[in-house]
Amino acid sequence: MRHFISTLDWSREELEKILASASEHKRDRIRPLLVGKTIALVFFNPSLRTRTSFEIGIYQLGGHAVVLEPGKGAWPIEFREGAVMDGDAEEHVEEVARVLSRYCDMIAVRAFPKFQRWEEDRQDSVLGLFARYATVPVLNLETITHPCQELALMLTLRERLGTTDGKKFLLTWTYHPKPLNTAVANSALIIAAKFGFDVTLLCPTPEYTLDARYMDAARSLTESQGRSLTVTHDIATGYEGAHVVYAKSWGALPYFGRWQDEAPIREAHRHFIVDADKMQRTDRALFSHCLPLRRNVKATDEVVSAPYSLVIDEAENRLHVQKALMTTLLSAGKKVAS
Ligand code: CP
Repeated sequence: MRHFISTLDWSREELEKILASASEHKRDRIRPLLVGKTIALVFFNPSLRTRTSFEIGIYQLGGHAVVLEPGKGAWPIEFREGAVMDGDAEEHVEEVARVLSRYCDMIAVRAFPKFQRWEEDRQDSVLGLFARYATVPVLNLETITHPCQELALMLTLRERLGTTDGKKFLLTWTYHPKPLNTAVANSALIIAAKFGFDVTLLCPTPEYTLDARYMDAARSLTESQGRSLTVTHDIATGYEGAHVVYAKSWGALPYFGRWQDEAPIREAHRHFIVDADKMQRTDRALFSHCLPLRRNVKATDEVVSAPYSLVIDEAENRLHVQKALMTTLLSAGKKVAS
């Protein structure tokens, strides 16, 4: 049995096979590969694309999806080991994961960080506890990384660029009125590195550099393929010669739990918005973003609606890569009685 927690646990060759399978699913949309299979989709946070694409993908494969929102239609869950459960939670993740494993063939979980202590959030404990107690594959719907988004991004770039090796991938921080999750930024960094790009991270100050786990992984992945990882705070340097501009906003890790101190820095960098002038500096780059996207805050209307914008294609490709992923996980895994 294999989980899909982070693409760091999967080789490029394995991910290439999933992308090839995704292209087949894109050509042939209704294939009865999950008939009789049931998948629990557990959402602790809101979603448009993830929920819709998983529900529809499972339907198109002949399976059945059960959507659960703990604390909102399903019982609130306790995650602390050894807790005296005299608070709001009605049941422990150990029972939740083991019971769902008796009903379902896979459990998929979305659980964003709490944004108070990064040292705590970086443990990814909600997903980790589901994986510890489940006896079926567990799939990450976005926690501190967003691996399904990574696959969709790579399928989309492959479709437009052909090979990704040796091309320049710019991951640019953008302004947002709230400090957001670093998950998609972590993911973009590691998947671009794994797929042979020269990767540049553009962010306002060194405090916006991503967690060492992902920076180190990206550095190691790029260097092992003769590529580079560059960090810059200079907009012109970042955009120069880029083949892909990927935009995302995130909160600076040193400011977790004291966001009022981070706000002035973020406000001072509204000019990191992706606009046509910046895109002019690139090598006719493609633009993308995971969505949802605040127009004219993160990127201008002109960029989001441009022919070089892949935001809708990338969102569509979530459907195809996830179908490939689910069939891969279920063909590799055998359900184990607990
Ligand atoms: N990109 C993404 O995961 O979108 P949702 O938050 O709408 O699921």
